[in-house]
Amino acid sequence: MRKILIVGAKGMLGQELVKAFKKDKENKVIAWDKEDLNISSEKEVSKKIGFTKPNIIINATAYNAVDKCEEDKKEYAIARKINGLAPGYLARAAKKAKAILVHYSTDYVFNGEPEIPEPEGCSQSCSSCSLHADFQPEIGFDEKAKPKPISQYGKTKLLGEKEVEKNIKKFYLIRTSRLFGQPNLAQEGTKSFFEIMIELGKRKKKIEVVDEEASCFTYVPDLVKKTKEIVDSQKPFGIYHIVNRFPCTWYEAVVFLYEKAKIKAEVIPVSSEEFPRPAKRPYYSVLVNTKLNPLRDWRETLDEYLKIIVPVKKKVLAKKKTSAKK
Ligand SMILES: NC(=O)c1ccc[n+]([C@@H]2O[C@H](COP(=O)([O-])OP(=O)(O)OC[C@H]3O[C@@H](n4cnc5c(N)ncnc54)[C@H](OP(=O)(O)O)[C@@H]3O)[C@@H](O)[C@H]2O)c1
Repeated sequence: MRKILIVGAKGMLGQELVKAFKKDKENKVIAWDKEDLNISSEKEVSKKIGFTKPNIIINATAYNAVDKCEEDKKEYAIARKINGLAPGYLARAAKKAKAILVHYSTDYVFNGEPEIPEPEGCSQSCSSCSLHADFQPEIGFDEKAKPKPISQYGKTKLLGEKEVEKNIKKFYLIRTSRLFGQPNLAQEGTKSFFEIMIELGKRKKKIEVVDEEASCFTYVPDLVKKTKEIVDSQKPFGIYHIVNRFPCTWYEAVVFLYEKAKIKAEVIPVSSEEFPRPAKRPYYSVLVNTKLNPLRDWRETLDEYLKIIVPVKKKVLAKKKTSAKK
């Protein structure tokens, strides 16, 4: 019997991890959210994990408000605690309990300017030689690329990565990007980009979307399946990149999403300059996976996603209404 502790268990990723790991009879899954364990308190983390003694700890907690923590010092302090310091608390507690730690990070730890690989043998001073003819490298950031965040949010996530690496050897650090899946179950839970776009598209006739900042969207059930594969097959500890294939801009994603969801709103492409936000976003933050079999094209997951999101949204709304009456 493996004791698996999932923290952040009501989040978009957390709830899916709970479901997947519970399916195996050999697992005893303990699902905790903020009310069970506030990971911002090292004392609480150490005490509760020391008492529970899990074999595996999966950290699915998050502070995701990228723009809020760029502008507001108090918010930045919260983000730094949850994303940056608390992974260290969990790592120390996991080490003490002789447990494995699974932690998630983001493409926003990179600056958006990947190195462009040259074909082997190229002098690197040619503008194009015959070696380039069939050379189609995957451009982006692989697991060894050097992080260099350009936002406060990115800095907090990089701090979290460093805290994990510093405090425990038995870790899986999984970087991912642009998650979509069943909505967060918490009362004030954050919404994914696709959820926001579906809501806006139903209310508005026209919507402007940034046609830059290419990266990969990731369907949460696919991410969970790969996480489970890494853990169950005891892959070597270290950094993994898990995203669905192929990169696109925000605009390209919304055009496809609306087509699939039969949303009629007109989607207008704009540049990132025309749509300023407090936090800088990387221009190109594709995560390149060199260690695992690739996931499917994100577009292939949309039919499934649209089927799950509608009934779940109704359920979450009903729950929110009931608790609002209390
Ligand atoms: N969402 C994305 O697009 C994205 C992209 C790249 C990487 N990631 C990474 O993926 C992981 C999961 O993200 P997600 O989108 O699933 O997040 P999420 O839906 O916001 O869920 C996070 C969960 O953590 C809980 N939590 C927050 N603060 C906590 C604390 N102090 N103690 C205990 N629990 C706390 C939240 O509770 P409340 O809701 O009540 O606060 C929520 O249930 C994170 O590491 C995130 O950085 C996400």
